[in-house]
Amino acid sequence: MSIIPNYMKTLEIAAKISILDETELTKDQKNVIEAAKSATMRSYSPYSHYKVGAACLLDNGEIVTGSNQENAAYPSGLCAERTAVFYAQSRYPEARILKLCIVGKNAAGNFSRDVCAPCGACRQVILEAEYRNGAPIEILLPSQHGIHVISGISTLLPFGFSYDNVTET
Ligand code: THU
Repeated sequence: MSIIPNYMKTLEIAAKISILDETELTKDQKNVIEAAKSATMRSYSPYSHYKVGAACLLDNGEIVTGSNQENAAYPSGLCAERTAVFYAQSRYPEARILKLCIVGKNAAGNFSRDVCAPCGACRQVILEAEYRNGAPIEILLPSQHGIHVISGISTLLPFGFSYDNVTET
């Protein structure tokens, strides 16, 4: 039984995520996944021992990577995908981010069985990047059951708070 009463007006939010196998990937998707995987090797994670790699494919053809960077003062660290997105935007402020891949590797050195989905703060940063882009970013989350392909951050962050909220007159 639902705890939500049956009001007249409701808003249903559906999420559609495609799960592909390797053979269904485009060359661009394969390249960005490979770049994210190799970025795990540059993770600085002496506290969690969880290595995260992220890669952005830009519309200028560049692939920019990032990895999680931890700190003895824990909250001062930064996730891999925020490192990659901020690096892409600071290095190529005019470029659009087309694709973003995130992968995690456990302390044993194996890629995570399940997806390494972006945390809430990273979802918010990706939303801002889409705003700057003027277009959604394809998010690729590899796992052992297939590559989850998400066609924009609104799937992971529905009902988000964005530029339009702040600038409304
Ligand atoms: N982490 C990321 O880099 N990205 C995510 O999407 C989830 C978590 C990092 C933060 C921290 O360095 C480590 O993974 C364990 O939480």
